[in-house]
Amino acid sequence: MTSTTEKASIVADILRLKKERQAVILAHNYQVGDLQDLADFTGDSLGLTQAAAKTDAKVIVFCGVHFMAETAAIMNPDKLVLIPDKEAGCSLASMISGESLRRWKAEHPGAVVVTYINCTAEVKAETDIICTSTNALKVVESIPADREVLFAPDQFLGAWVREKTGRKNMHIWPGYCHVHNKIKTDDIKALKASRPQAKFIMHPECGCSTSCMSLADKVASTEGILKHCASSPDKEFIIGTEVGILHRLEKENPGKVFHPATAEASCEFMKLNTLEKLLWSLEDLEYKVVVPEAVAKKARRAIERMLEISDPGGFSAPKAPVD
Ligand code: 13P
Ligand code: SF4
Repeated sequence: MTSTTEKASIVADILRLKKERQAVILAHNYQVGDLQDLADFTGDSLGLTQAAAKTDAKVIVFCGVHFMAETAAIMNPDKLVLIPDKEAGCSLASMISGESLRRWKAEHPGAVVVTYINCTAEVKAETDIICTSTNALKVVESIPADREVLFAPDQFLGAWVREKTGRKNMHIWPGYCHVHNKIKTDDIKALKASRPQAKFIMHPECGCSTSCMSLADKVASTEGILKHCASSPDKEFIIGTEVGILHRLEKENPGKVFHPATAEASCEFMKLNTLEKLLWSLEDLEYKVVVPEAVAKKARRAIERMLEISDPGGFSAPKAPVD
């Protein structure tokens, strides 16, 4: 166990090295609290991708999972991108490979491929347009109604988007996040019954995304959940996503009460990164995340199409999302 003095010394070393290396530290909302507090930017997948695309730092240390660091590397071919623990994977991202997506595409010639950002660089390179939980609806709505859509890899986000858009020509890959899959309709019903005053705020990756839709007061990405809870006049919330988000929710909203939908929804991959590993990462400049340029070039196009839809001011003039 790290004492308060040891922790202060690690933090001081991290800040010194960060300056020396001209590094920026990015952290996802599911990281351990210490990393969220120390990071230059803490946010959701879209915010982190935007931050990575805009930074002028020489080194990006990504406190998140591998596909997120890969996304930063794709957007920054000339920068050094590091991840503190190279075992920080993602169960959802591992549910589709480039090869299986190529086979699926061959079965649906002419379909537009929309892939959730939780996927490998190889899968992104096979994609027409990436989406995150913030903009999945917007991205799918941007595709002409007569075009078939292949949506991968999250079946729950896909089912939620299909339900919201009423789109019939949307095929969904049967992947899921093992953490959000633990959030079940019956648990939400029981929690709501015992705390009728609490609002239920749900991430669309949840295993009950469509069956819980009528129970949810708000469906949003992690950053959307944070924004909603901060601006809402309500004081008590049931939070349907990974438990790491409670750190910022509680810190930024003194006086409000937050209950996790289930305490079991903890992502062991996200929790692999620690303050100590961040320090070693900056000391040794490891672990490097490198995406071959041939793959990165195609993947970048799919990410930029999403960013153009999400942040028209930040990129060149918005263009049609598909050829
Ligand atoms: P967002 O933070 O973009 O909502 O993503 C959630 C998630 O599961 C990331 O792995
Ligand atoms: Fe992947 Fe789920 Fe962990 Fe997010 S919470 S990194 S989707 S396994």
